Amino acid sequence: MIDRNVDVPWSEFDPEAYVNLNYRIPLEADLLIVGLMRDYFSRCYAEGVPTSVRGVDMGAGANLYPALSMLPWCEKILLLEYAAPNVEYLERQALGGRYDTVWDAFWEVLSEAPAYRDVEPRSRFGEIVRVERADLLDLGGQRRWDIGTMFFVADSISDCPDGFRRGVACFMNALNGGAPFAAAFMKESLGYQVGGHHYPAYRVNADRARESLEPFAAELEIHDMDHMVRPGHEGMILALGRRNPVIAVP
Ligand SMILES: C[S@@+](CC[C@H](N)C(=O)[O-])C[C@H]1O[C@@H](n2cnc3c(N)ncnc32)[C@H](O)[C@@H]1O
Repeated sequence: MIDRNVDVPWSEFDPEAYVNLNYRIPLEADLLIVGLMRDYFSRCYAEGVPTSVRGVDMGAGANLYPALSMLPWCEKILLLEYAAPNVEYLERQALGGRYDTVWDAFWEVLSEAPAYRDVEPRSRFGEIVRVERADLLDLGGQRRWDIGTMFFVADSISDCPDGFRRGVACFMNALNGGAPFAAAFMKESLGYQVGGHHYPAYRVNADRARESLEPFAAELEIHDMDHMVRPGHEGMILALGRRNPVIAVP
């Protein structure tokens, strides 16, 4: 049992192994999620994009597709990440508009919608993305973004319900009222292996995802997808919605 986030071997996280395991061959579930996010964000901004929208991907790790899904809408995007090897991976991806070709399959799905089609993703990613090493549990509601994503993070804080609820609360409290968001969780995960290390997970199902997000969200949609990625979980859960205007939630 790993019930404290600080006890997880984040400094040993191997981003290349993680990408090879999860994203090098795109999974149907991820491509479906990308399409749902694309359509949801396109609907949110159908009436126009406000000036200077700032986006955040919390616990970005070695995954660029949440940030790519925010690319047409944002003036700036922050990739906030705790594990030092993942921070280095993200910095390499953001450098000089040359992210890895592994992410092209995800952009292909995004570019089926008009707002994405007009964007040249590599140069824009290089221009507007910044990477910061930080602990999302320490944000304390002090910084706020206008759009946000958090993928497979709150369920990976530890194997305890408290870590999960804190992760969700910290993410939602980092969003301005009305901010569109997308959050994803592995369904009923028992943890996962990257390289030689085991990483914990809290077992999330659609009801737990809804319960944790509902106090913070308007327009909440939960997509319960029974796609297996590897043994030890039952699929993925995607939550889409907007941050409600109430800022303080106990
Ligand atoms: C399962 S990985 C998910 C990575 C990526 N978002 C994805 O979609 O594949 C969990 C990520 O959460 C990050 N993380 C865990 N605890 C964190 C914290 N307290 N603050 C910021 N990031 C954290 C880890 O470093 C890791 O990158």
